[in-house]
Amino acid sequence: MSVLRTVVKGCGGYLPKRVLTNEDLAKVVDTTDEWIATRTGIKERRIAAKGELTSTMGTAAARAALDDAGMDPQDIDLIVLATSTPDQTFPATAVTIQADLGITQGAAFDVQAVCSGFVFALTTVDNYLKSGEFRRALVIGSEAFSRILDWDDRGTCVLFGDGAGALVVEAEMQNGSTTDRGVLASCLRSDGRYRDKLYVDGGPSTTGTVGYVRMDGPEVFRHAVTNIAEVIAATLKKSGYQASDIDWFVPHQANKRILDGAARKLGLAPEKIVITVDKHANTSAASIPLALDTACRDGRIKKGDLVLMEAMGGGFTWGAVLVRW
Ligand code: UT7
Repeated sequence: MSVLRTVVKGCGGYLPKRVLTNEDLAKVVDTTDEWIATRTGIKERRIAAKGELTSTMGTAAARAALDDAGMDPQDIDLIVLATSTPDQTFPATAVTIQADLGITQGAAFDVQAVCSGFVFALTTVDNYLKSGEFRRALVIGSEAFSRILDWDDRGTCVLFGDGAGALVVEAEMQNGSTTDRGVLASCLRSDGRYRDKLYVDGGPSTTGTVGYVRMDGPEVFRHAVTNIAEVIAATLKKSGYQASDIDWFVPHQANKRILDGAARKLGLAPEKIVITVDKHANTSAASIPLALDTACRDGRIKKGDLVLMEAMGGGFTWGAVLVRW
């Protein structure tokens, strides 16, 4: 039976030039490289320059993904941007990226699921492409998280960084079997009872300000471990695959201890985990596409590989997507 699948055609990333190391941070907040590295695995992060926006970083990543796919902006009829740090409250930053790319057809909108944003965006796009509504899409994660950090709060400011990553995906007829290329299964979850565990203390309808990131780290950590295991199991069950079939595990990069724990639970060898948290820190919705780009560029992820992505973030929101590259 022939079915439409969402097949990856290109991948791209963008990182701001400025590197902020743990040592740099230790000069301005009460922290140490040793604390940050042992608790999180982070060594450094990138910080967007003045004038460098979520839209400009997203556009750069989108252009790199289009180049990788050998496509022009005019080939795209859908743009979904995952971000929690839009250029403005409205319009959606996706329409700025659309205009920057010179695209006037199709639709562009933002998805907001914080660190799970890319998994939510890819699943949304997958459903649109499978339905035949759109044909070729840019799925982008872009974040200027440094702009919503309280640089006096050592519990959060050491954890995040800026950057963007993007995929070009295309609806393609496949056999309808587990050996197909494309998105094979996905699961999304939210539980708003935990919305005060990781949030921003401002917003248009409350304070009228942008606000800063606030997090109950240990509580988020505790839920992350359980939620990630559950949603990966549900996604694998849907797909008919076992954890042992996975070629590459590309988790949201929040904390090396969380992703090592998830890989251990899956019984995956450490060399199958793509880790960028050491260099990028937590770039929220950008972390998965940036990790994908890293592993595609260095030749690890190849056409035909089975790639498992997962994320957990504010809301709480969490989810997983299994893709044959
Ligand atoms: O991407 C969205 C999902 N987010 C996550 O998954 C994050 C999940 N949480 C975590 O990764 C961890 O909870 C953190 C890395 C945020 C914190 O690690 P922890 O081992 O849970 O530390 P903690 O918050 O329990 O703090 C332990 C100690 C405290 O001191 P006392 O009370 O024991 O004296 C903190 O004040 O570490 C102190 N501390 C720091 N010390 C040096 C907190 N931040 C820092 C810091 N430098 N930057």
